[in-house]
Formats: sequence, C-alpha cells, structure tokens
Amino acid sequence: MSTKFALLAGSALVASGLAAQADELNLVCSADNAVCEALVAKFESKGDIDVNMIRLSSGEAYAKIRAEARNPQMDLWWGGTGDPHLQAAADELTAEYKSDMLAELQPWAVSQAETSGYRTVGVYSGALGWGYNAEIFAAKGIEGPKCWADLLNPALADEIQVADPNSSGTAYTVLATLVQLMGEEEAFEYLIKLGDNVSQYTKSGSAPVKSAARGEAGLGIVFMHDAVKQAESGFPIEVVAPCEGTGYEIGSMSIIADGPNPEAAKVFYDWVLTPEAQNIMPGAGAFQIPSNKSSILPEAAPKLGDINLIDYDFAQYGSSERRSGLLARWDREVGALK
Ligand code: G6P
Repeated sequence: MSTKFALLAGSALVASGLAAQADELNLVCSADNAVCEALVAKFESKGDIDVNMIRLSSGEAYAKIRAEARNPQMDLWWGGTGDPHLQAAADELTAEYKSDMLAELQPWAVSQAETSGYRTVGVYSGALGWGYNAEIFAAKGIEGPKCWADLLNPALADEIQVADPNSSGTAYTVLATLVQLMGEEEAFEYLIKLGDNVSQYTKSGSAPVKSAARGEAGLGIVFMHDAVKQAESGFPIEVVAPCEGTGYEIGSMSIIADGPNPEAAKVFYDWVLTPEAQNIMPGAGAFQIPSNKSSILPEAAPKLGDINLIDYDFAQYGSSERRSGLLARWDREVGALK
C-alpha cells in the first residue's frame, strides 16, 4: 500500500482510539512457495495490509515459533502439515480463534479445529504417495512401484529421495503413516532398509519429486498433489497411491499467540478460508483439496475417495510427546546412517 495511505490508515486508527495498526502482517508459509506468493499478492492487492512472508517447511516453522515464544515475531502460520500445528497448539504457542468461516468448512477441517481447542484449522487436504520418473524406470527396465514394499527393491539403490521428518511435515507424515500401517518396530525396520535406496533426505517435503521430474532421482516420496504438479507441468512423472494404504495431511493454519499484529492476522485468516482465496491455488500449481465447501475441487486433485486411506490418528501423531519421540528415534536409527 502507498505510504500516504498507510499514514492515513494509521492516523484513522489512532483517531479511533485503536493502538494497533492493522497494516502489517508477518506470515510464515509452509506450503509451496508459488502458492504462498500467489495468495500474498492477491491479499495485498485487495486491502491495506502489507505482508512480510517467509517460507519455511512445517517442522522448521514450528521450531522458529517455539524459539520465539518469549518474544513472538510472527503473526500467522499458513499451510504445512497439521501435525506440527497441533503440537504448537498443545504447547499454547498459538492462539484460540473461532472464525465465522468455520461454518463454511469441510468436516475434516472443523475436526482439526476441535482437536486443537480452536488453535488451528484445516485449510487443505491431500494424500501421501510418490511420483516416479517413467523414463528412468523404463531405461532401467524396472516396473513402476505400486506398494510401499516395492520401494525396498535393491535395483532402486540411490534412486529414491524423501525429506527429513525433522524439517518436513511431509516426511513426518511418511513416518507416522508407516508406524500406523506396520506398527512402530516394523516401520523403523522398513525405514532403515529404505535408507539403502535413499540418495538424500531433503529439507523441504516437495523437493524429492522436483528432483525426480528433472531426472536427478528416480522417485520422490511426497504428497500426491506435489507429484501431480510435476506431471501437469509436462514432466514424465507417474503418480502413485501405495497399495497397502496411505496417510494424508490436513494442511493447517494457526494464529501465533501474542504476535505483533493480531488484528491483521484475523483479516488474512478469514479471507484465506474463502472460495475466492482457495480458488487461486490450482493456478499456482497447488492441487490440494480445499477446505471451504464452496471452493472448486481442482480436476487434477487426487480424490481421497479413490485412495486406500488409513484412519490417520491426528490427535496422537500431532501430540508433543509422540511427535518428539518419533523424531528422536528417526534421528538415532535412520538419519544417523547417512
Ligand atoms: C508441499 C505440499 C503441502 C504440504 C507441504 C509441507 O508444499 O504441497 O500440501 O503441506 O509440502 O511442506 P514440508 O516442507 O513441511 O514437507
């Protein structure tokens, strides 16, 4: 917004006796950078609030908010997987807010709010799977993997990428999904074996399938919609929902407790839950399932009804104790081997 208008808006607020100036917003965005930027550009063009946005993976965003708890710098955290949002809620790092928009949301988005005591809310959803580079697999003469078990094929040595679950909510969803599918002991045995085929644990969740699209890796374990984005962009990526069943995310949004601009946070929060805002996402290559019942479901979005989904226990795997415990075990038994 123009400086002149900012000054006018500021003096209007002072004149009306309001101390806070609702003209700035510090936003942490944990979804893909392209969609973060598209949402911010539209929001800024509509009103008088300037957004300072940083993109951090879900686990990194949680760590930043936690580190700043005594002196919060951020106002709002949009996107990223729900588990660290739930952990932040349990730690009371985020503020309770019952938006009028709740009435317009899908049951899974409202249930995320209820689980957190209204400290977070669902903004989108999507299932976990992978994308593989069909040209690389054809050249190697290997069939495209359909099941989690197929990823242990020794012919895939160094062909797989997945993120580090400490930084990435996607990779934490992989970890929590495998624990729920197989039981904890078997899941860690599986992850240790999978490690033989993993060339790199990346920081961001969607990086692995971007590498597969460019032929730098054969396969990336990611949310299926992130694989769809690469296929839609013309890369030879095949999208797979694992045959044994898979987990999913409820991408979430939370207001930071005691942030510097609480009013601006609520303005963005309410707007970003509208169909107007959510319908921007597919144009930025984000093919998640939107949480507003009236938003358009992108044609390319993988349909949850067609996928063998586990009954993901968000309350348990988003709890501080469970998440911290699983991450510590992953560091000791899986991460340490690289
Ligand atoms: C991608 C997906 C989002 C997901 C996010 C998590 O951007 O499109 O649906 O919430 O990854 O990111 P992270 O880097 O934490 O795995």
